[in-house]
Amino acid sequence: MKALVLAGGRGTRLRPLTHTVPKQLVPVANKPVLLYGLEAIRDVGITDVGVVVGDHGPAIRDALGNGGTLGLDITYLHQHAPLGLAHCVMLSQDYLGNADFLLYLGDNVIIDGLGPLLDAFWHSRPDAMVMTGKVANPSEYGVAQVGPDGVVTGLEEKPADPRSDLALVGAYVFTPAIHQAVHSVKPSWRNEREITHAIEWLMRNGWRVEAHLHGGYWKDTGRVEDLLECNRAVLDTAERSIRGQVDASCEIRGPVVIEDGAEVSGSRITGPAVIGFSAVVRDSRIGPYTSIGTDCDIVGATIENSVVCEGSTVRGSLRDSLIGRQARVNGDFGRPTCLVLGDHSEARLYGSAS
Ligand code: TTP
Repeated sequence: MKALVLAGGRGTRLRPLTHTVPKQLVPVANKPVLLYGLEAIRDVGITDVGVVVGDHGPAIRDALGNGGTLGLDITYLHQHAPLGLAHCVMLSQDYLGNADFLLYLGDNVIIDGLGPLLDAFWHSRPDAMVMTGKVANPSEYGVAQVGPDGVVTGLEEKPADPRSDLALVGAYVFTPAIHQAVHSVKPSWRNEREITHAIEWLMRNGWRVEAHLHGGYWKDTGRVEDLLECNRAVLDTAERSIRGQVDASCEIRGPVVIEDGAEVSGSRITGPAVIGFSAVVRDSRIGPYTSIGTDCDIVGATIENSVVCEGSTVRGSLRDSLIGRQARVNGDFGRPTCLVLGDHSEARLYGSAS
């Protein structure tokens, strides 16, 4: 079986970061989101992976190469414009050939879910299988109605009055029947060929579509608050590991990871938290639930529930923030500020916030 991983798209909900970095490479606990999916795919024994890329293709190729270091054989498939998930399947038809395949949305983190999904697929051999997860707020998701036999009887996109609490999660297993379906559906009002329309087409035309309920953690990291929530969930699984230098005046509490080459002095780090390779943290309070990227320079700062990407400088108080690469935060509002900053941006915080 091959996997098709979607790493194109617009990423409008993660702007301004996605002006310069594909959302699939934004780090969660200092690891690009896309790697969580690719490692999960490798761990279920799939090695042939097609990665669909758009405008940010070069950055994704730089990060993944031919997949060898991950134990994968990656083939890149270029999508000239973000014309929808079903369009991604269309353009990949030659690569996929006449075999079943796993479709994985590259901005999703799904913990321990792919093995059970594939087992369920091989057990009942439907024509397509969607993964679902129970949610408290189904109106914000694509939602599946599922019969007692596991057969999907209906799909709704962000329904105002949902008939089920089963959200569609970003992993699917398809048989070659999907190729006829993606060619048969028309672009939607947003000019995208929707994978949900292709699945509905299968259902209307007598193909059996089943759902597999994922009981574990999953997250679509397409929005800042979801990315921060995912960062918290992944950090919650971190184990204490101190490889960098920590001076005697520091207080390190709980599950804190300090990577090689990092230098921490005069600071309190409260886990879960991770301090990246060669980062400098001085006279600061970091955590909980904070990821400080490689080569960051953090001095006199307080940072909580935040992701600070590679090479950034922070001198101030932040919470619930996502700071891009090589960005600079200077100054203080007198209390922690929530910021979303793109790569190479600068925020100067002076005076008191009202
Ligand atoms: P989405 O999050 O649904 O779409 P998007 O990336 O355009 O995001 P936004 O709504 O914030 O603008 O996409 C899910 C995954 O599929 C994500 O990894 C991007 C990828 N994708 C493609 O590769 N090609 C596409 O045409 C689309 C729409 C998404």
